[in-house]
This record gives sequence, structure tokens and C-alpha cells, in this order.
Amino acid sequence: MNLTNKVVWITGASSGIGEAIATQLAKEGCKLILSARRTNELERVKNNLMAKDVFILPIDLEQHQEAEEWTKKALTAFGKIDILINNGGISQKSFALSTNTATEQKIMNINYFGNVALSKAVLPVMQQQQSGKIVVITSILGKFGLPELTTYAASKHALYGFYESLRLEHVKDNIQILLVAPGFINTNAAINAVKGDGSLVNENSDAQRNGMQPSVFAKKLVKAIQSNKKHIYIGSKELLSVPFKTLFPNIFYSIMLKMSAKKK
Ligand SMILES: NC(=O)c1ccc[n+]([C@@H]2O[C@H](COP(=O)([O-])OP(=O)(O)OC[C@H]3O[C@@H](n4cnc5c(N)ncnc54)[C@H](OP(=O)(O)O)[C@@H]3O)[C@@H](O)[C@H]2O)c1
Repeated sequence: MNLTNKVVWITGASSGIGEAIATQLAKEGCKLILSARRTNELERVKNNLMAKDVFILPIDLEQHQEAEEWTKKALTAFGKIDILINNGGISQKSFALSTNTATEQKIMNINYFGNVALSKAVLPVMQQQQSGKIVVITSILGKFGLPELTTYAASKHALYGFYESLRLEHVKDNIQILLVAPGFINTNAAINAVKGDGSLVNENSDAQRNGMQPSVFAKKLVKAIQSNKKHIYIGSKELLSVPFKTLFPNIFYSIMLKMSAKKK
């Protein structure tokens, strides 16, 4: 897929992975629509891109009932949407029994319902175009679980179920789905994670700090988009946990148990 002049809408574009994807796609000559809540951070990203075709569209994924309105606004920018990159999301740091229902709903609203609502609003546009690609940033935690990440892992597992099914429904419309499972990437994800009462963690984690640089991640992602892949893992040695779980489930679970015991 040649990306020059393609119109790409990126959520979670105000920092981390989304910002790095925007930077890489600007170099490929894409026209960009950048979304997140913080307009000032979106402006900062736009100014750093030094690309002329960049449209800022602030959205709050928790308010996903507005997805059709956002899509109408997005279309005013360049008249079409070739690629939607559903990247915006939040993480969690709280045991299940210490996580209140409102916080669980907040995580699911942003990571799952917001993501899905946006795709459902954009799909008719892509159907009319008879072309399009939806890129979904899930996680290796869409493949297994970890302590203090129950709702986060659930939201990422749910994305797999939705998009693996959706892909089959829209082959006839020439719409492709790329599911992307990052390992540990060096962003503010741990700092921006929520505790069980919904307040911010505001503290980095070693996993994040030692993770892959977002710019390296973005280069690999753009290659996957260009080569029409359906699924990709992007990260470092932590990615081995996925085949390990399949091949050696008992050892995998005993390691996970040791990890959870350490956390208590
Ligand atoms: N970093 C990792 O190790 C890792 C691993 C696996 C998966 N991921 C996934 O990668 C994606 C990007 O995360 P990141 O690592 O780049 O973390 P990040 O730096 O915290 O970025 C999160 C992005 O999501 C946006 N966002 C958060 N809540 C939002 C809301 N209610 N409405 C709209 N946008 C919202 C944030 O912008 P505003 O605050 O301006 O709204 C920000 O742009 C997430 O889906 C995350 O789950 C990350």
C-alpha cells in the first residue's frame, strides 16, 4: 500500500505511540487527522510535524455516543478517510477487588466502546469509498492477563473478538483490519494509568521505562500497514510470553503466579 496522500485519522495522537505514528506517517506524505482530549498537546504534535495537511480534532473517547459527529467533522478536513488508527487508550494499576465499577466502566468505555463506536461511525464512509483500513492498537495483554490489569486486559481481549469478527464482515467492501499487539513501549502509559478509585497512578513502571522507543514501534507499524498484514506483535523479548503460553502453559502460569505473589 502506497501511503502518499492517504488520509489517516489517529486517536491518542497527543503523546506516546500515537504521536510517534503521526511523525512517521507525516514522513510518508500522509494527510493527518489528530485526535485526543488535550488540544494543546495535539497542537504541539502538529507544530513538530512540519507537515501542511494536519487537522486537529479533539475527542473524548468516553463520550463515544458522539462518534458520528466526530466523523462528520473529520470528513470536513480532507473529504475522505483512508485509514483509521484506533490507538487512544488508558491502562490500569489495581487489583480487581479494589477496582470500583465506575473505573471498570471508564476503562471499557475508552479502550473498547470508544474504539468500536469510532470504527462503526467510519465504516459507512469506507463502504462508500469501497476501500479503507482500520488499525487497532491492542496489547499482548489481549492474549493473556497480568495482576492489577484485569479490566485493561479484558478490554484488549474484547478488541480481538470484535475486530477478528468484523474483518470477515467487510472483506466484500475492500476494508482491511490490522490488529497490532505492542509489548512494552516507552511511553507515559503507566503514569497515565488509573487506580481502582479512578485516580491517576502518576508513577512510571520499569516495564515502560525499559520498553521499545515509540519511534522504533512506529516504523514497524508503518511497514505492517504498507505490507497489508492482518496482525502484528511489536516489542522486545516480552513478546516470547505469547508462544510460551501456548507451548508451555504450566510453566507460563507458574511464572505468572510468582509475579502476582511478588506484587501482593
Ligand atoms: N506503552 C505500552 O507499553 C503499550 C503496550 C500495549 C498497548 N498499548 C496501547 O497503546 C495505546 C497508546 O498508549 P501509549 O502507550 O502511547 O500511552 P500514552 O502516552 O498514555 O497515550 C495514550 C493516548 O490516549 C489518549 N487518550 C486517553 N484517554 C482518552 C480519552 N478518554 N479520549 C481520547 N483520547 C484519550 C491520550 O490523550 P489525551 O490524554 O490527550 O486524551 C494519549 O494520546 C493505548 O491504547 C495503550 O493501551 C501501550
